[in-house]
Amino acid sequence: MKKVVVLVSAGLLLLALCGSAFAADIKIGFLVKQPEESWFQDEWKFAQQAADEMGFELIKIGTTDGEKVLAAIDNLGTQQAQGFVICTPDVKLGPAIVAKAKANGLKVMSVDDRFVGSDGKVMEDVHHMGISAYNIGKYVGETLAAQIKERGWDMNKVGFLRMSYDQLPTIKERTDGATEILVAAGLPEANIYDTPMKTLDTEGSFNAANIMITKQPDVKLWVVAGGNDSSVIGAIRALEGQGFTAENAIGVGINGSNFAINEFEKPEVNAFYGSIKLAAKTHGYGTAKLMYEWIADGKEPQKVTWTAGELMTRDNYKDMMD
Ligand code: GLA
Repeated sequence: MKKVVVLVSAGLLLLALCGSAFAADIKIGFLVKQPEESWFQDEWKFAQQAADEMGFELIKIGTTDGEKVLAAIDNLGTQQAQGFVICTPDVKLGPAIVAKAKANGLKVMSVDDRFVGSDGKVMEDVHHMGISAYNIGKYVGETLAAQIKERGWDMNKVGFLRMSYDQLPTIKERTDGATEILVAAGLPEANIYDTPMKTLDTEGSFNAANIMITKQPDVKLWVVAGGNDSSVIGAIRALEGQGFTAENAIGVGINGSNFAINEFEKPEVNAFYGSIKLAAKTHGYGTAKLMYEWIADGKEPQKVTWTAGELMTRDNYKDMMD
């Protein structure tokens, strides 16, 4: 009798182990280039939601440079993960990332920033989810143009502080889109002040904008566009430092995550008018789910997915929060 009980419990234990081993068996990495940016914190948060719901393990790694990316992929291999989603710190790392993933037997999918091959062309073979960057840039331009009109500003007197970061194609498309619309709305080309940022963050934006604004004391009305919220918010801080307010400056960012919400929650209205809110949930939860289904069910995701955005301002941000 005792023997039977022991055998049955051993059998149950084995079953339990198999069950839990199966759920814990799937490990997916989520690597982001700027872990301190609220956009990427949102992606992680939503990817974790997918992991909790579907029962896989999510391994979040901040990979701020190429060395960290390659080490992280080896690390995932050692942990016997099966795949990862990545927003790379440099799109030119694409071929090295794909080779490293292969060497470790890992599936890879990029999010936000699409890999560029050694020939300078996008790596279309790598599954990707990104924003429709040019259209979203145009949306920024339309929002700025509408605000200029509403305030009755003379287009000839408006300076366009274009916070550019052309080495990243998705960002260049965004600033190009905004430029196209502003010029079509009557902004003279001579009023475009291209302001390249050294780093794609608030500090990089502040430093670049500060120099440009100082160099152009004759511009009394500014509009600001950039690739994301950080690149506009830094410029808004620089403008404020030189006496500009919501009366004579308008900025529209992209992302609509906490950096933008913090601006809207300030009691005093400032020059940061709005942000095109992107689909952080689709980028985080959605990519993690696609990777999970690819690993668990052999269901290959579609090669490329483009997501859209929606204007968020002080008036509607509370309704738009996730
Ligand atoms: C880039 C930007 C992020 C965010 C994403 C959206 O990675 O750096 O701030 O806008 O694109 O895809």
